[in-house]
Amino acid sequence: MNNRVVNALAAASLSALLVAAFGGMAGAADPTDLVKERQQTMKKLGGGMGAVAKFVKNEGGTLDDAAKGAEAVLAVAKLDAKAVFVPGTAVGVGESAAKPELWQSWSVAEERWKAMQPAAVKLGEAIKGGDRAQIAQALGATSKTCGTCHEDFRVKKQ
Ligand code: HEC
Repeated sequence: MNNRVVNALAAASLSALLVAAFGGMAGAADPTDLVKERQQTMKKLGGGMGAVAKFVKNEGGTLDDAAKGAEAVLAVAKLDAKAVFVPGTAVGVGESAAKPELWQSWSVAEERWKAMQPAAVKLGEAIKGGDRAQIAQALGATSKTCGTCHEDFRVKKQ
């Protein structure tokens, strides 16, 4: 191969690399998509809590469903708050209902996010124990960790 061909090939593969890199970055950094992703993440929390509530209220949910629900809550609680609440995704971006105060009071918000973890662990333990009253109590405590954050950092729906 002569030098010109080698250079042309190198330039072509470099530009392909750049397209791949920037294309991927643009996809991940679209704030509207990040809001949608966060809302999906939150829905997982809601679904998990709902599964436990269905058992507690004796509405057809099995103990096994409740255990899976608590596991889902714990899995989300373990996510890094920074990845869930990416800066630049406050109310005004897409359908975001996240108040700007969430980022202004970041350490508080992060603490509230982390508070879900021990609550979800206790919820899982209560479910293993199988006692409905204890599960109900642990569910209430977990739900409080959601409510405390929503109270301060989530725009109320009209
Ligand atoms: C650190 C704060 C924080 C914690 C903790 C938290 N949330 Fe949220 N949640 C928010 C914010 C902020 C929004 C608004 C997100 C948006 O619109 O982008 C939200 C939105 C939601 C939504 C609506 C999602 C949608 O479709 O628009 C649900 C459901 C929800 N949260 C459930 C929960 C449950 C259940 C828990 C507890 C197990 C929980 N959240 C814990 C901050 C929190």
